[in-house]
Amino acid sequence: MSEKKSSQLWTGRFTEATDRFVEAFTASEHFDRRLYAQDIRGSMAHARMLAAAGVLTEADRDAIVQGLRAIREEIERGEFQWSPALEDVHMNIEKRLTDRIGEAGKKLHTGRSRNDQVATDVRLYLREAIGAIRGELLRFQHGLVDLAERESDTVMPGFTHMQVAQPVSFGHHMLAWYEMLVRDQERLEDCARRLNVMPLGSAALAGTSFPIDREMTCAELGFDRPGNNSLDSVSDRDFAMEFIADSAILMTHLSRMAEEMVLWASPMFDFIELPDRFCTGSSIMPQKKNPDVAEIVRGKTARVNGHLVALLTLMKAQPLAYNRDNQEDKEPLFDTVDTVRDCLRAFADMVPAMSVNRDAMRAAAKKGFATATDLADYLVGKGVPFRDAHAIVGQAVRQGVETGQDLADMDLDTLRSFSDTIGEDVYAVLTLEGSLAARNHFGGTAPEQVRVQIQRARERLQAEAPSAERRGDTP
Ligand code: ARG
Repeated sequence: MSEKKSSQLWTGRFTEATDRFVEAFTASEHFDRRLYAQDIRGSMAHARMLAAAGVLTEADRDAIVQGLRAIREEIERGEFQWSPALEDVHMNIEKRLTDRIGEAGKKLHTGRSRNDQVATDVRLYLREAIGAIRGELLRFQHGLVDLAERESDTVMPGFTHMQVAQPVSFGHHMLAWYEMLVRDQERLEDCARRLNVMPLGSAALAGTSFPIDREMTCAELGFDRPGNNSLDSVSDRDFAMEFIADSAILMTHLSRMAEEMVLWASPMFDFIELPDRFCTGSSIMPQKKNPDVAEIVRGKTARVNGHLVALLTLMKAQPLAYNRDNQEDKEPLFDTVDTVRDCLRAFADMVPAMSVNRDAMRAAAKKGFATATDLADYLVGKGVPFRDAHAIVGQAVRQGVETGQDLADMDLDTLRSFSDTIGEDVYAVLTLEGSLAARNHFGGTAPEQVRVQIQRARERLQAEAPSAERRGDTP
């Protein structure tokens, strides 16, 4: 049996010290120290509220606030001595406060618990993290719109089943990516709105007997309102699950983009060239230029999907209210924040800097009979029922495959051998530009419509305010 130690703050009812292994096994300070700024911010708000409610003296409040400020500086200077024996970020800071300011430090924890404290810290943290992610998302969106504008007249083959389908504008394709990111942004903003409810004041699970003023802490911490139910407030981790779910969808989008870029950058496609600074070489094959950044983003999607399953599984069997299991929410959450932010940063830098091989895209579109549907539509315009037109064009394509000719390369006699309704005007629709221009309706790929969407996107992006400013969080 080891000797009773007194470094922990809860040893009153214990007769023996914590097992060394258990101490390390249960400690979270090595990862939750990341919450230090939110923890200090929450504690300052709590102390000010306790003083306003007459629970603390003004002198105690001032000593606490100044002590916490000094501790924040110690941490930021890298001078703070973190101790696993003090379990977590909360008790490390509280113990240091008492060491620095004495008796007043021991009064800080009046009317609260680590259960409402940690739930408050994580919400504050995630609110700021979403703000930072949102900034990268907006930067990437801007980059895609710029690229779409440069390439709105660029023709590429559009694919279904990875087979050449119909020609599209490359700018249209980039705006498809943009639309995915707009939804990701909306989902994250929705998550940030829903998480902005304050647990502080719920104490361990039932609330507190002290005359607390939750509206006051709420206003200071920038929460929209205090939580309605103390049991729910200390145990709810929906916001973490929701954030990781939104992140998993976002990463799935980035992974799909990555997949396309990896294909397009391969010599078989040769549609794009990624900047050298975002690629790596092979240690054995001198000719290689590998799209590693895109591949790593695709690979990192797996971690975030895994974190989502981890969080859902963490919560599924927890009875109300707080359980220590919840400590396991942090590493997946932090890693999701880092992964999403870094992947967005990489793509926001890399994607708009890619160079586009317009000739290769054109050649691929021509080779794949991308205007076959246009010929069918043309025949319909001449009074041929669509099903018959489909069959006629199918025969023309089969002959083109045999002779190695694109539809636009066939002479009029050849084309008329499939249908005598075909006239000289057919060549206007068989060109790639004609095919694009024909799809001139809202949401279509005609360059004119692409420019309409670019204009919409620009107006939308202009109206987006930086999120940190909106909530008063320090970025
Ligand atoms: N480190 C803990 C966590 O992350 C803080 C709350 C601990 N509460 C408790 N009653 N042991 O969940």
